[in-house]
Amino acid sequence: MATKMHLVFLAFLSLIPPFMVAQADPGYSYGYGFGWGSGGGNDYSSLSPYFYDFSCPQANNIIASVLENAVAQDPRMAASLLRLHFHDCFVQGCDASILLDDSATFVSEKKAKPNLNSLRGFTVIDEIKARLEEACPETVSCADILALVARAASVLSGGPNWEVPLGRRDSKAANMLLANATIPPPILTAQKLIASFQQQGLDEVDLVALSGAHTIGVARCTSFKQRLYSQNGNNQQPDLSLEKAYLNELKSVCPSSGGDNNITPLDYASPKTFDNTYYKLILGGRGLLFTDQQLYSGNYANLAQLVKSYAEDEGLFFDQFAKSMVKMGKISPLLGSNGEVRKYCRRPN
Ligand code: HEM
Ligand SMILES: *[C@@H]1O[C@H](CO)[C@@H](O)[C@H](O)[C@H]1NC(C)=O
Repeated sequence: MATKMHLVFLAFLSLIPPFMVAQADPGYSYGYGFGWGSGGGNDYSSLSPYFYDFSCPQANNIIASVLENAVAQDPRMAASLLRLHFHDCFVQGCDASILLDDSATFVSEKKAKPNLNSLRGFTVIDEIKARLEEACPETVSCADILALVARAASVLSGGPNWEVPLGRRDSKAANMLLANATIPPPILTAQKLIASFQQQGLDEVDLVALSGAHTIGVARCTSFKQRLYSQNGNNQQPDLSLEKAYLNELKSVCPSSGGDNNITPLDYASPKTFDNTYYKLILGGRGLLFTDQQLYSGNYANLAQLVKSYAEDEGLFFDQFAKSMVKMGKISPLLGSNGEVRKYCRRPN
C-alpha cells in the first residue's frame, strides 16, 4: 500500500515543472545553478538539468524543432548528431572542441583521423546556435547544445529520453592530436575498448550500452573492410566472427579494391530506429564493425553477457543507455568561469 502510494506520488512529481520540484525537494534546493540573470558569467560548480530554466526556457524546444526539420530532410542526421556528442566528450571533455574550425593557433579536430570525411551535422548545429542566439544571446553553450541534441536524436529515433545535466561551458581551443589518440578506432579488441573507455571514467557496462548507439546510422567501407578480405593483414581470410551470408552481402557493397566511401547501415535490420536490434544482430555474427562484434566475440564474458541482456530486454538497454549518456556527458566539463559561452560554435569569442 505504502509502496503504491509512493509510486503514485513519484508519477505526480514527474508532471510538475522542474522548478516546483526544486522547491518541494530539499535535495534540489542547494548547489544547483538556475541560470539566473544573463546565464553567462555564472559561477555554478556542477551541472544541473535546470540550468537554463530561467535564462533560456525555450532552449530545448528550439533544438527539438530544428532537429525535427533536419531529420525530415535527411533521416541519417539523427545518428550523425548523436555521434558528435561522443566525439566531443572523448577529447578534453564535453566542451564543444569538436565544433571549432581551424584557427591561427590550433588545428580543428574535424581533421583528426576518426572525424575526417566522417563527421557531419555541423550546419545543423550552426542553425540551432543562430536561433538560440536570437532567443537568448550568449547564454546556451555549444557543449550543452551537443548534449541536448544527442538526447533529442535518441527520442526522435524512438530511443530513450533522459534529463540532461546542463551548464557546460565551451573550450577556447581544439586538440587534433588528442582526438587521434583518444577516440577509439574500429579495429580495437575488446580489451583495448575497455581500456579506452576506462580512460574516460566509463566502465564495461557503459561501453556495451553506449555502443548501442550503433542501432542507427551508417559506416563507410573503410571502417570495416579489413574484416571482409584480410582480417590479419595477410590477404588470407576474413574475420571468422563475421556470419557468412552477411559477409557476402558486405563484400558486394565493399569491393576488395575501391569503394572505400560506400556506406552501409550499422544495424541493417532497422537503421533509422533506435531499438535493441543492434545487439540481436551481434548475437548472430552480424555486427558491422570489428569493435561491435568484439563486444560478443572478444572473449570477455562480462561484455558478452551484457550484449545478451540488452538483446533480450530492450527496456534494460534503454535505461542503461540513458544512464551512460548522462555519465559520458559529465566527462570533464568546463564549469564556473572556465571556458566561455561561444557566440558562434565554430570559433572562440
Ligand atoms: C565503442 C567504440 C566506438 C567505435 C570504435 C566507434 C566507431 C564508429 C565508426 C568507425 C563509425 C563509422 C564512421 C564512418 O565510417 O564514417 C561510427 C558511426 C557512428 N557512431 Fe560510433 N563508435 C564507437 C562508439 C560510439 C558511441 C559511444 C556513440 C554514441 C553514443 C556512437 C555513435 C555513432 C553513430 C550514431 C554512428 C553513425 C553516424 C552517422 O551515420 O553519421 N559510437 N562509429
Ligand atoms: C591525426 O590524424 C590526421 C588524419 O589522419 C593526420 O593528418 C595527422 O597527422 C594525425 N596526427 C597525428 C600526430 O597522429
